[in-house]
Amino acid sequence: MKRVLITGATGNIGSEVVRFLSEYDTSYRIVVAVRSIDKAKSVFKGYRNLDFVHFDFEDPSTFDKSLLNIDRVFLLRPPHLSDVDKYFRPLICEIKRQGISDVIFLSVQGAEKSKVIPHNKIENLIKEYGLDFIFLRPSYFMQNLTTTLLKDIKNKRQIILPAGKAKFNCIDIENIGEVAALLINKFPEYKNSAYELTVY
Ligand SMILES: NC(=O)c1ccc[n+]([C@@H]2O[C@H](COP(=O)([O-])OP(=O)(O)OC[C@H]3O[C@@H](n4cnc5c(N)ncnc54)[C@H](OP(=O)(O)O)[C@@H]3O)[C@@H](O)[C@H]2O)c1
Repeated sequence: MKRVLITGATGNIGSEVVRFLSEYDTSYRIVVAVRSIDKAKSVFKGYRNLDFVHFDFEDPSTFDKSLLNIDRVFLLRPPHLSDVDKYFRPLICEIKRQGISDVIFLSVQGAEKSKVIPHNKIENLIKEYGLDFIFLRPSYFMQNLTTTLLKDIKNKRQIILPAGKAKFNCIDIENIGEVAALLINKFPEYKNSAYELTVY
């Protein structure tokens, strides 16, 4: 049975990806790559088809073992990690070294247009190493309204963002997770493409 590694599995998108994948009748075994296996076991209690492996973006000594016998990787960038050469180059290098060719990367809408954001650099890194890829470029998460933006909405009745004159909309994390899970399953049909995910 093939094995797909899910990074950021306990977060907004990763948890939805794991949920959808575990509900599908898939030929993949889901490997949840996390800093705390105990925490992940409680988050995913009752889910089927899961394995757990210790993985830390900030500790390259965890890469080798967690990528062993993996066929496909769902990669995301935890928001606090911006130094792509420090955290992501060694990881992509190890993915390549272990002969894993398929990477689905959670990027962001507009990543292709901005040379400064880490998502742009990670997309380029994946291409530089010659991996097959799917880039998911979602717009703003709807759930930001009830998390990061909630304080300003409650106290100032405003949504304050460094958006300039950009037009953008929101998308539910559940929809992103579902698309990601579908594309993980159908990777060969959709590979080497980027998909902008928005509400229309
Ligand atoms: N917010 C938006 O509107 C928006 C829109 C488009 C794209 N994005 C992009 O989406 C990404 C964030 O996704 P998200 O919201 O799903 O993330 P999130 O909810 O912040 O979750 C981060 C995940 O990364 C894990 N993590 C953190 N540090 C780690 C480390 N050192 N090693 C291993 N795992 C670690 C966390 O696990 P623990 O349980 O160990 O903490 C958690 O599972 C960012 O790259 C962001 O730019 C965001």
